[in-house]
Amino acid sequence: MDDLDTLTRAVLDRVAAASAASELEDLRVGALGKKGTITELVKGLGSLGPEERKARGQAVNLAKDAIAAAIDARKASFAARDLEAKLATERIDVTLPVRPEALGRIHPVSQVMDEIIAIFAAQGFTVAEGPDIEDDFHNFTALNIPANHPARQMHDSFYLPRKADGTQMLLRTHTSPVQIRHMQSHQPPHRIIAPGRTYRCDSDQTHTPMFHQVEGLVIDRNIHMGHLKGVLEDFVRTIFGVPDLSFRFRPSHFPFTEPSAEADIGCTRKGGEFKIGGSDWLEILGCGMVHPKVLEAAGVDSTEWQGFAFGLGIDRIAMLKYGIPDLRAFFEADLRWLRHYGFAPLDIPSVAGGLNQ
Ligand code: PHE
Repeated sequence: MDDLDTLTRAVLDRVAAASAASELEDLRVGALGKKGTITELVKGLGSLGPEERKARGQAVNLAKDAIAAAIDARKASFAARDLEAKLATERIDVTLPVRPEALGRIHPVSQVMDEIIAIFAAQGFTVAEGPDIEDDFHNFTALNIPANHPARQMHDSFYLPRKADGTQMLLRTHTSPVQIRHMQSHQPPHRIIAPGRTYRCDSDQTHTPMFHQVEGLVIDRNIHMGHLKGVLEDFVRTIFGVPDLSFRFRPSHFPFTEPSAEADIGCTRKGGEFKIGGSDWLEILGCGMVHPKVLEAAGVDSTEWQGFAFGLGIDRIAMLKYGIPDLRAFFEADLRWLRHYGFAPLDIPSVAGGLNQ
C-alpha cells in the first residue's frame, strides 16, 4: 500500500506546486496516461490473489480519482486566474464621458441591413417584421413543411421547453414566417421585405447559431420569374456597386416555392482573404415563386394572386462587401474589431449617396 500512497502524495504535491496548465497536462499523462506511474500499478494487479486484488484495485481507483480531481480543480483555478488578469488589463470604465476620439461605431451587420433596406425601398418595398420566437405553424406548416418533412431536420432548430398543451415554440429558422404573418394581416397586393435575426444550430467560419436574413415577398396579379430575376439582379449590382458582377441562378428546392432557385455571386477565397469577383461562388440567397399551398395557408386566393419570395443572408453579404474573413467575429462584441470594421454613426446609407463604396 505504501508505494501507492507515497506515489499519490508525490503527484498531488506536484499538482499543487504547478504554475501553468501545460505542467498539469504533463503530470496527468505521467500519472494516469497509458504508461503513467499509477497505470503501471494497475498492470501489477493480475499477479495478486482475488481478495487482495479487490482491495488494491479499489485503492488504486481512489488514488486515480483523487489525482484527476486535483488536476481539474487546479486547471479551473488557472482559467479563473487568466480571466481575472484579462479583465484587469482590458478593463473599460463605461461611466466616463464620451471622448470624441472614442465615438461609437455602427456594426457592419446594421450598416448592411440599412443599405439593403435603402435599395429595396427605392424599388417600392416596405419593411415588415415578425417575432424571433415562432410557433410551428408559421415557421413550418404554413410554409408547406408538414410534420416529419426532412426540411425540419435540415433546419437544426432550437426548440423552447414544451408547453402544458404539448406545443413547442422555437427560435425561427428563417425569416419566411414573416411572409405568412404579413399575408394573414394585410390585403394583397404585397411588396415587403422583412429583415431580422434567425437561428440554427450551426457554427463554423461561414455559419453562426444566430445570423441575419432579409425576406422578400411580392404578391400581385401578374408576377412572374422575370420580375424576381430583375429585382434580385438590380439588388446585387447596387449593393456591391459592381455593374458586371458575376451572378448566377441555380435550380434548387424549397417546400414553399415552386419553381425554386438559389443565387450565387462570384468571389475569391485565397489565403484568408475573401473578396467579391473571381471564379469561386458564394451562395447568398434562396428564392422562387410562392407555392399556391403557402398562399392558401395564409388566406390568399391562389387563383387570383401569385408572386415570388426570396431570403437573403445579410451576414454573408457584409463579409463579402467589407472583406471580413470570419463570420464568428461579428458576434464576439470585441471593441477593437468594431473600431476597425464599424461605420461612423452619421454614415447613413442611401442609394443616391453611393452606399459606402
Ligand atoms: N427560407 C429559405 C432559407 O432560409 C430562403 C428562401 C426564402 C427561399 C424565400 C425561397 C423563398 O433557406
